[in-house]
Amino acid sequence: MYKAPLQDRYRRRLNYLRVSVTDRCNLRCVYCVPRETIPRMSHLEILRYEEILRIIRIGVSLGITKIRITGGEPLVRKDLLPFLEQLTHLEGLTDIALTTNGVLLQDYLKPLQAAGIKRLNISLDSLRRDRFAELTGSDRFDRVWAAIEAAHGMGFNPIKLNVVAMRDINDDEFHDLAALTRTRPYHVRFIEYMPMGNPNLPGDPYMSNDEVRQRLEQKDILEPVPRSGNDGPAQRFRYPGAPGEVGFISPLSHHFCDTCNRLRLTAGGKLRPCLLSNQEFDLITPLRAGASDAELSAIFIEGARLKPMAHGLIAGGQKVDARMSSIGG
Ligand code: 5AD
Ligand code: SF4
Repeated sequence: MYKAPLQDRYRRRLNYLRVSVTDRCNLRCVYCVPRETIPRMSHLEILRYEEILRIIRIGVSLGITKIRITGGEPLVRKDLLPFLEQLTHLEGLTDIALTTNGVLLQDYLKPLQAAGIKRLNISLDSLRRDRFAELTGSDRFDRVWAAIEAAHGMGFNPIKLNVVAMRDINDDEFHDLAALTRTRPYHVRFIEYMPMGNPNLPGDPYMSNDEVRQRLEQKDILEPVPRSGNDGPAQRFRYPGAPGEVGFISPLSHHFCDTCNRLRLTAGGKLRPCLLSNQEFDLITPLRAGASDAELSAIFIEGARLKPMAHGLIAGGQKVDARMSSIGG
């Protein structure tokens, strides 16, 4: 069989599947979820692990080689570890990574390492305990920081720290966050705020990454890191001689749609070709109605084919009807 049929109408090869295993989260980050209670999916509406594994297996047969496990917060889902273990035994995957908010991470580090997970992305929008509590609704900075340092000590690599850049919210900490890379091999990545999860943040928090970078470079130069083949969308830099890197992910100011290789599987079992488009392809219904692998493959292929060329989000403009907590960033 043709090994890479996941290709869209614009000839982009789709080999990267981001899998949200739950819409639940133990934090309430301001940019992600509105403060009022949000309806959660019932357990029945969420894919079971064996269903996720089946979908991933089909994806792999169609050319998926890279998986990222996301949420909500993936570590709040029960029995994640046995699932990850099975995942790491799937033939054909070259890369399995995990995105987490870090709150529960410390207790998971050993088993994660044993399961063969090496790559971690951890959200970290502030280094100040009080601000962290304000931004996430939970006083857990110390735990998250301890988990990051422990992960470093245990040899996880790379450890990527995601900072959503927000004007008047955490912009006074950009230097301190970037400076972490001078003493540790962390990749600190500034992500442009997207008006999606909670588009009603007060003020105008969007800041372009050009501005973030200019601010950082007022103090010290950043030199570009030569691009490598499997680079994601981050533009990579480092302070001269530093062990870590500073990255910029700019979905709005320099959108990377033309090289996007991603598909997403939502916790509710929908294939979502673009984070920033509401278009979804239902896998859970046919799967539970007894569809064959061939029938599910056909949906995969069609969803991939119809991936939109580019997203229509313009800074401060259009809003997307979606929360990261159910699509998984
Ligand atoms: N804008 C930018 N990034 C976001 N994330 C979640 N919501 C938003 C948003 N509105 C990112 C956070 C988190 C990851 C899971 O998704 O950086 O680390
Ligand atoms: Fe924060 Fe991630 Fe939870 Fe959203 S899903 S509230 S970004 S930790």
